[in-house]
Amino acid sequence: MYHNPVLLEACLEGLAMRPDGVYVDVTFGGGGHSKAILERLGEKGQLLAFDQDPDARANAQTIDDKRLTFIDANFRYLQKYLRLYGYKQVDGILGDLGVSSHQFDTAERGFSTRFEANLDMRMNQRASTTARDIVAKYSAEELHRILGMYGELHNAKTAGLAIVAARANRTIETVNDLKNALQRYAPRGKENKYFAQVFQALRIEVNDEMDALQDFLTQSVEVLKPQGRLVVMSYHSLEDRLVKNYIGKGKFHGEVEKDLFGNDLKPLKAITRKPIEACAEEVIHNPRARSAKLRVAEKV
Ligand SMILES: C[S@@+](CC[C@H](N)C(=O)[O-])C[C@H]1O[C@@H](n2cnc3c(N)ncnc32)[C@H](O)[C@@H]1O
Repeated sequence: MYHNPVLLEACLEGLAMRPDGVYVDVTFGGGGHSKAILERLGEKGQLLAFDQDPDARANAQTIDDKRLTFIDANFRYLQKYLRLYGYKQVDGILGDLGVSSHQFDTAERGFSTRFEANLDMRMNQRASTTARDIVAKYSAEELHRILGMYGELHNAKTAGLAIVAARANRTIETVNDLKNALQRYAPRGKENKYFAQVFQALRIEVNDEMDALQDFLTQSVEVLKPQGRLVVMSYHSLEDRLVKNYIGKGKFHGEVEKDLFGNDLKPLKAITRKPIEACAEEVIHNPRARSAKLRVAEKV
């Protein structure tokens, strides 16, 4: 299976769909959420779906439905593409962040620590920078920064230096080359978790995921109608923090701004105070759901 959609019912409920509304799924993937949205849309409804991965585009091409428009682009250009397709405002936007199971489970994509493959990790295979380039070119300081910030490694500085030292002897090209370079620094018995953190950091950097998410969130409030819904599902704490801050404070860092009368100046109202998480039963059937955090907000 390409991808088993996570928290499907909660996402649909969060969108509070109108049958004739215009909706955007910015992370089409295997189309699980999109197909369910199409099922709830009436004849006049519209769904615009983004994905930057050509494999997702191939999935979309198998759906014969005039109400679906697939946009083969990064969601960081949400507003520009909606304008291009003639939409100024929409009723709801869904984002199911990160990589799909298909991307993760396809060995040659290089996302997984489980398979030997070239260090690639591009969601958009037309992009020029791969994980191999980062491992080959970044300085020890830059590696320290991404491994610490995006991987939350406790020994990020040591790991950065270890990569630089290892590549002086032999190029690091594959998953196993990288694991071998860091093996000595992985906590005993927790190697899998450690490598997963290293790979997460590289993946976030390769795909510029944090900046893309901020661009997307900022534009989402521009293109949502009043009372339009924003539904975002994230899978690690860095993403969730950005989503939570943007919904709660209208900005990514710092405190909410106030007008002269002391009223909060923020474009969104949280519909769910706490993030929605998958129940134990869903996690048993779909382990990917374990770390999902779903937040729902309404345009003020
Ligand atoms: C978790 S999967 C989505 C799965 C989908 N909801 C389903 O039910 O099949 C995330 C998808 O979003 C895409 N993606 C991630 N970041 C993106 C971005 N910045 N722009 C466009 N697509 C992106 C990935 O290529 C991947 O296919």
